[in-house]
Amino acid sequence: HGTSRINEKGHLEIGGCDSVSLAEQFGTPLYVYDEALVREKCRAFVQAFQASGLAFQVAYASKAFCTMAMCKLVEEEGLSLDVVSGGELYTALQAGFPAERIHFHGNNKSPEEIVMALDAAIGCFVVDNFYELALLNELAGERGKQVKILLRVTPGVEAHTHEYISTGQQDSKFGFDVQSGQALQAVQHALDSESLRLLGLHSHIGSQIFETEGFVIAIQRLTQLLAEAKEQFGFVSSVLNVGGGFGIRYVSGDTPLAPQVYVETIASTVRNEFADKGLPLPELWIEPGRSIVGDAGTTLYTIGATKEIPNVRKYVAVNGGMTDNLRPALYQAVYEAAVANRMTEEADELVSIAGKCCESGDMLIWDVKLPATQAGDILAVPSTGAYGYAMSNNYNRIARPAVVFVKDGRAELVVKRESLDDLVRQDILPQRAQLQR
Ligand code: LLP
Repeated sequence: HGTSRINEKGHLEIGGCDSVSLAEQFGTPLYVYDEALVREKCRAFVQAFQASGLAFQVAYASKAFCTMAMCKLVEEEGLSLDVVSGGELYTALQAGFPAERIHFHGNNKSPEEIVMALDAAIGCFVVDNFYELALLNELAGERGKQVKILLRVTPGVEAHTHEYISTGQQDSKFGFDVQSGQALQAVQHALDSESLRLLGLHSHIGSQIFETEGFVIAIQRLTQLLAEAKEQFGFVSSVLNVGGGFGIRYVSGDTPLAPQVYVETIASTVRNEFADKGLPLPELWIEPGRSIVGDAGTTLYTIGATKEIPNVRKYVAVNGGMTDNLRPALYQAVYEAAVANRMTEEADELVSIAGKCCESGDMLIWDVKLPATQAGDILAVPSTGAYGYAMSNNYNRIARPAVVFVKDGRAELVVKRESLDDLVRQDILPQRAQLQR
C-alpha cells in the first residue's frame, strides 16, 4: 500500500527508497514514514468534509506521533492540531504551528501547562472536569483573557475495541458524565464562567474503531444534551467535536472503513439530528491520530539471534522490541512482518519475533511466516506509524531509534537516533565521596 513496492533487487522500497539502503544509511531500528501516504490521509479527511458541505476542522491527534517535522507537515496540509501536554504543545510551537489552530486536551492539565497555552493564545481548550473549569477560568481571568472551550463529555458509548483504549463509556477518567446530568451541570458552570467562552461539546468514544455505529449513538446523545442545554440555558453551540478513533489495517484480516465513510456518516448524522432538534448546524470537528499516520510508518530492524526449540517454536530476535513498539506488550496488538531484503523469497517458515528487552512479554509478533532468515537480514514491520515512536521508551537503557521521512526517492532524517550520551544526559553522580548508607 502507499508507495511501498518490491524493487528490482527484491527489496522492499518505500517512497522510492530502498529500505535495505535506508537501514545501512541510518541504522536500525528505524522508523520510516511514507510522507506521501501521510499527506494522502490528511487530504482524504479534508476532502470528505468538503464534499459534506459542513463547516469543519480536522485536528490531527498529535499523541499518535508528535515530532516537529510531523507538526510542520500537518500545518502545511492545513489541519488543526490536538495536543495533550505541555510537551506536545511545545513541540508544535517550536515547529511554528499556528497557535490558533491548536486544541488542548487532557484530564489533568497542570497550571503551568494552562498558562503556557494561554500565553501562546491557542485556539481552544477541551475542558475535562470541574476542577479544570474553575482553574482555567481563574488563570484566564488573571490575565484578562477570554478563552474558547469545549466540554469533553462521556456519552456512555462502549466502542468495540481494547478496554484500555476505549474511552467513551460512563466509567472513564475522561470527561463529564452525560447520564448522571453532570454534563449539563458543566454547561451551566461554563456559561457562568466569565473568562470562558463555551463553543460546544466534545466526545471521543475510543480508538481503532471499525464501524460507524458508535459515532452515530454518541452524536445522538450529544445532540440530545445540546437540546436540553438550549432549553434550560438558551445555549446554542457552534462546534461539535466527535473525536478520533478511526481504525486502520494492521494485519490482513482487518477491515477498516475509508476516511470518507466515517466522515459521511458523521456528517449526515449531525445534519439529521440537529435538524430534528431544531438546532443550527454546528462546525464539525474530528481528531484522527492513528488513521493519519498509522499505516504510513514501517519499522526496520536487524535480525540477530535465533533460537529454535525442537517441535515447539523458532524465536527470531531483532535489535528492538517493546522499547520502540510497546503495543504488542501493552494491548496484545498483532502485526505482520516481511524480510526487506528477501521480498521475493517464499515465506514458508513459521517463526515468532522477539525483542531484545529483559522481559518475556517482549515479543513483537507471535507466529508469522517469513522466508528463511539469517543474522543481518532486515525485518520490516508495517503499520507502526501510530503510537510506536510516540510510546517509545528507554527500558533497559535502550536508545530510541531515528525517524526518517521518505518521498520520491529522498530520505530525510527528522528525529536523530539517541546516543549513549543522551541516555545519561539527565543523570547526576552524587558529589559526595560516598553515598550515605
Ligand atoms: N482524541 C482524543 C480525545 C483521544 O483521546 C484520542 C486517542 C484521539 C483523539 C486519537 O485517537 P486515534 O484516532 O489515534 O484512534 N496508545 C493507544 C491508543 C490510545 C488512544 C488515546 N486517545 C494505541 O496504541 O492503540
